[in-house]
Amino acid sequence: MKTNDIRTAYLAYFANKTHAVIDSASLLPENDPTTLFTGSGMQPMVPYLLGQSHPQGTRITDSQKCFRGSDIDEVGDNRHTTFFEMLGNWSLGDYFKAQQIEWAFDFLMNDIGLDPSKLYITCFSGNEEIGIPKDTEAAEKWQKLFKEKGIDASIADNPEEKGMQGARIFYYNEKKNWWSRAGVPQNMPVGEPGGPDAEMFWDFGDGDGIHAASVWKDTPCHVNCDCGRFMEIGNNVFMAYRKTEDGFVELEKKNIDFGGGLERIAAAAINNPDIFMIDQFDGVRNHIEQVSGKTYGANEKETYAFRVVMDHVRAAAFLIGDNAVPSNKDQGYFTRRLLRRAVRFAQDLGVTEAFVGTVVGSVIDAYTDAYPDLAAQKDHVMKVASAEEEKFRKTLQQGLKKFEEMIADGALTTEDAFDLYQSYGFPIEITEELAREKGIVVDMEAFAALVKKHKDLSREASQKKFKGGMADTSEMSVKYHTATHLLHIALKKVLGDHVEQKGSNITPDRLRFDFSHPEKMTPEQKAEVEVLVNAAIAKDYPIDFQEMPLKEALDNGVIGLFTDKYDDVVKVYTIGDPAHAGNANPEEPTFSREICGGPHVTRTGDMGTFRIKKEEASSAGIRRIKAILL
Ligand code: ALA
Repeated sequence: MKTNDIRTAYLAYFANKTHAVIDSASLLPENDPTTLFTGSGMQPMVPYLLGQSHPQGTRITDSQKCFRGSDIDEVGDNRHTTFFEMLGNWSLGDYFKAQQIEWAFDFLMNDIGLDPSKLYITCFSGNEEIGIPKDTEAAEKWQKLFKEKGIDASIADNPEEKGMQGARIFYYNEKKNWWSRAGVPQNMPVGEPGGPDAEMFWDFGDGDGIHAASVWKDTPCHVNCDCGRFMEIGNNVFMAYRKTEDGFVELEKKNIDFGGGLERIAAAAINNPDIFMIDQFDGVRNHIEQVSGKTYGANEKETYAFRVVMDHVRAAAFLIGDNAVPSNKDQGYFTRRLLRRAVRFAQDLGVTEAFVGTVVGSVIDAYTDAYPDLAAQKDHVMKVASAEEEKFRKTLQQGLKKFEEMIADGALTTEDAFDLYQSYGFPIEITEELAREKGIVVDMEAFAALVKKHKDLSREASQKKFKGGMADTSEMSVKYHTATHLLHIALKKVLGDHVEQKGSNITPDRLRFDFSHPEKMTPEQKAEVEVLVNAAIAKDYPIDFQEMPLKEALDNGVIGLFTDKYDDVVKVYTIGDPAHAGNANPEEPTFSREICGGPHVTRTGDMGTFRIKKEEASSAGIRRIKAILL
């Protein structure tokens, strides 16, 4: 079965079980300013898992584009990619555990035709401290389904110490079998939903063969041991709890969040542990083989380079398609890094001529049916990628030469790294990687400090000429983005602290803001909000950001949504004087502090006049404001 057929079959399977099929959300989250990318199928669904009613009902299915920038360095082995598709089916207070397990099993075994004897399952071992029991219900349900396929599946505890024990179903603790945006239960902030999960693993091994040949050979093999024998292909999350001040309580409406890695299921379907061998990569792999004259899989170093190029051009194609064009900031920086890294690794395959821009075309060809939006942008995406490649190629050879000179004495100074970045366009991560290959460590903190120093200097020089950081964001959109922060805090002041952002959408012509509030706003309330926002504009407040751990931001009463991890560092934008807490400058009090990725204007002064054009219901308990700047 081809990858495209698996996606189609999955959506059809759940459509047949009365799920509404929805399109993938963008890779750039629309309503979640705390994270740069959509990294799981769950992310765009969070408001609905928290109780907001979904316009399409209580059963939803989708295939969500995901990008995990943190995995860039993992790419090169047989299973990591930065971009992937997550098949999802959602029950929003509808069906629950037993039904989910039955359907997940039925789909994979009967519709995809996977061999049940290669499937292994993990369930939650329970935790007395948080009062959540061992998930024997899930384990026994799986056991029953295996039995129907003629497989005697025994259940085992403590696989990390005791290994496989001849079993098929295993209990793991919350480090492995619990899902929430914040990770383990202990890290979840109050109010956050989460729950135990049951994960499905595919066995690519011949007994312990792969394990014995790996660095893990001195420890017992188990499905989560990372030796490469087992690969997780799907996760059934039983999102049934909410954290409160007094511990966990059951949600009124229990949810199902199923996430299946499309590419990994496709790899299981051909029983090949190398994800880069699935048909979706055929076009791009052949293209690289043709241009380079090399054969995929010939040796380790080239295979690694092939995988990096394949992964990175694919991710870059999707990112550009979602408007993250190469830049030096935020999402665009990832696109730049991916493309430049692809160019560099293509060198290991002997490719020194322009080619990344055209390989992107082969990627898109494989997605014509599934992502017609991307296909329609093919020329544009190729042009953007080619322009970035051309820019980098101009200086790549010189930069590499320069690098060799710089490290002649066995070290690389921070100034050298900065020079490679500034004059030769080497993303610091490329420099770090080149240095690492030579056994040299780059002081990343010193580098960041140097970049900041240069940024501050040039900021001073061009204070009036601020341009929005995201290259696709016009100056007007940046103003609307800042206006959104002003509106958010003004609504809290006028309507009360229950107001929370539920969505935001900005175009160069208007802002749209969804927020929680039970009733229609009165004309007086609207006028008051306008007055507050316009007063903030008239004060010409300065805007700046600081980076701090999420926990510190929350402790300081900063508003905004959660990021994936509680100890993640977040950007906090302050409008007004950040030191106002100490009354340093009473003329410029702090107006708003919000977790946000930016960009914003540097002062509020020249934003214009703020007007609310419309205030209406968006869904139950959620109001929507459309506003403009005149
Ligand atoms: N949200 C779950 C995951 O990403 C399905 O694993």
